[in-house]
Amino acid sequence: MKIATAVSAGLFALGLAGSAAAQDYPTRNITLIVPFAAGGPTDVISRIVGEHMARTLGQTILIENVVGAGGTTASTRAARAANDGYTLITGHMGTHAASVGLYPNLAYNPSTDFEPIGVAAGTPIVILGRKDLPPKDLKEFIAYLKANEAKLNQAHAGIASVSHTTCVLLNSIIGIKPVAVPFNGTGPAMNALIGGQVDYMCDQIVNTTQQIQGGLIKGYAIATAARNPALPDLPTTKEAGLPEYEVSAWNALFAPKGTPKPVLDKLVAALDKALDDESVRKRLLDLGSDIPGKDRRGPAPLAALVKSEVARWTPILKGAAN
Ligand code: MLT
Repeated sequence: MKIATAVSAGLFALGLAGSAAAQDYPTRNITLIVPFAAGGPTDVISRIVGEHMARTLGQTILIENVVGAGGTTASTRAARAANDGYTLITGHMGTHAASVGLYPNLAYNPSTDFEPIGVAAGTPIVILGRKDLPPKDLKEFIAYLKANEAKLNQAHAGIASVSHTTCVLLNSIIGIKPVAVPFNGTGPAMNALIGGQVDYMCDQIVNTTQQIQGGLIKGYAIATAARNPALPDLPTTKEAGLPEYEVSAWNALFAPKGTPKPVLDKLVAALDKALDDESVRKRLLDLGSDIPGKDRRGPAPLAALVKSEVARWTPILKGAAN
């Protein structure tokens, strides 16, 4: 047999094996990388949807918390992972949008180095203070920040994280530059806020509902047009006198570029099924999440969202003192 024929036969056989593996997917555990510490919003959302997806797919989904550099360390690793469907990542508005404007040498392109699977949850932003911070409402909070700027510690989860990005926006609107204190996620940052080691934070609502309801921290306002049913007493930023601060984040699932379509189709379907499940919906809604409607689920809406969010946040972050 000529070498060329042998090679093409071999490649053909490899192709067949690849497509067979894709058809049989999944046949072993799946790793879902969470780019932040356990206990934070991205971790909690990943575990809620991942648990249900595992049942649909018939394989265990192992959460792996990979921290550092505002989630870009993990995102770089995921972009370079084997595109066989066994390594996925939960990215978000920070790792897959704000990072482009904040890391000149970002090692991945959120739009071209991943296969979008779908949005898992929208996460409105809440302005938080430690429970004994003197201001009683948002107006007093803003005045207090201005008067004590140099003494205040603002917690975040690393450059380009959601908590960093959304507080850069808040600080630039107020016109202050506090001491920014990075953590490996807003799970640990929340512990520091509860402990009084930091003064304020901008965080995704899913990380704050129980703490606010329990009086462990102060919620000053939610940065959405309407109040959130999970925190009905929390005023919107518009009601509280800061209408220009309206911002939400989102958490979404991605696979490495080149992941075979039969594999992606199964992952997209499993996420969709999870978001239709009553118990999954209740857990996400009780935490204040916004569950995407059918028209906002799947690869195409997520690909469009990443593109529009990169375009939205890049000028904001380049313009804001950060
Ligand atoms: C987390 O899960 O810790 C957050 O998503 C981090 C962040 O603020 O982006």
